Amino acid sequence: MKDFNLDSTNIPKHVAIIMDGNGRWAKKKGEMRIYGHTNGVGSVREALTAAVEIGVKYLTLYAFSSENWNRPKDEISALMDLLVQSIYNEVDELNNKGVKLATIGDIHFLPDSCQNALTEAKERTKNNSKITLILALSYSSRREISLAVQKMTKEVVNGELESKAINEDLISSYLSTSDYPDPELLIRTSGENRVSNFLMWQLAYTELYFTKILWPDFKKKNFYKAIFDYQKRERRFGKTSEQIIDLNV
Ligand code: FPP
Repeated sequence: MKDFNLDSTNIPKHVAIIMDGNGRWAKKKGEMRIYGHTNGVGSVREALTAAVEIGVKYLTLYAFSSENWNRPKDEISALMDLLVQSIYNEVDELNNKGVKLATIGDIHFLPDSCQNALTEAKERTKNNSKITLILALSYSSRREISLAVQKMTKEVVNGELESKAINEDLISSYLSTSDYPDPELLIRTSGENRVSNFLMWQLAYTELYFTKILWPDFKKKNFYKAIFDYQKRERRFGKTSEQIIDLNV
């Protein structure tokens, strides 16, 4: 934090991260891909600690996409084991830090061991309020939107919802992120400049920050640098610069 003169009045409430590059990091070291994921857990800890330190209220991490089910079976099962192990190892520390754990995605597709670990950790951290850590697991933004449309359509057919009541706020309330504000900042590591089916509705006005750093090398200082970069930007939401300046006086 002291390396970057962060403006404490302009900290994003919600930061989302696409943690990418674990496989390439491991390959560069001549190791198996899972070695990269294992080291990626350290970066999760760094990002979470940094987020807590500066007062971010929501941190969403893309830990496993719906598309990731297409990976080799060995890698999937190693990743699930790592998740279970990390949750059990870290839950006391999450409580110490005041972290409430939450998830988005098709959690019911995950192995039972994973679901149980998540249910237990959510229960144990449910009264914490310093920050909410949202793990996106078996998550697909298009699927999330499709499920919301299905639910709304059903309610319209049943006469429980008027079609003209469907507006942006209503759609947001049918998504799995309905309890959270939209992210102000998205970080993606590893030099890939894509959104990859992550929070596509929610990212409409989000600042995008791409870095070449591979996820296991992403440390607290890299998180602060992303926040610093965000703070240098002017968020206009379609307005002109002059209007923004007028609003600020
Ligand atoms: C992307 O790198 C990373 C993942 C698919 C998994 C992320 C998981 C972790 C960091 C560990 C567990 C998480 C928690 C929350 C405890 P990649 O494999 O796509 O890398 P590549 O593009 O270099 O192949």
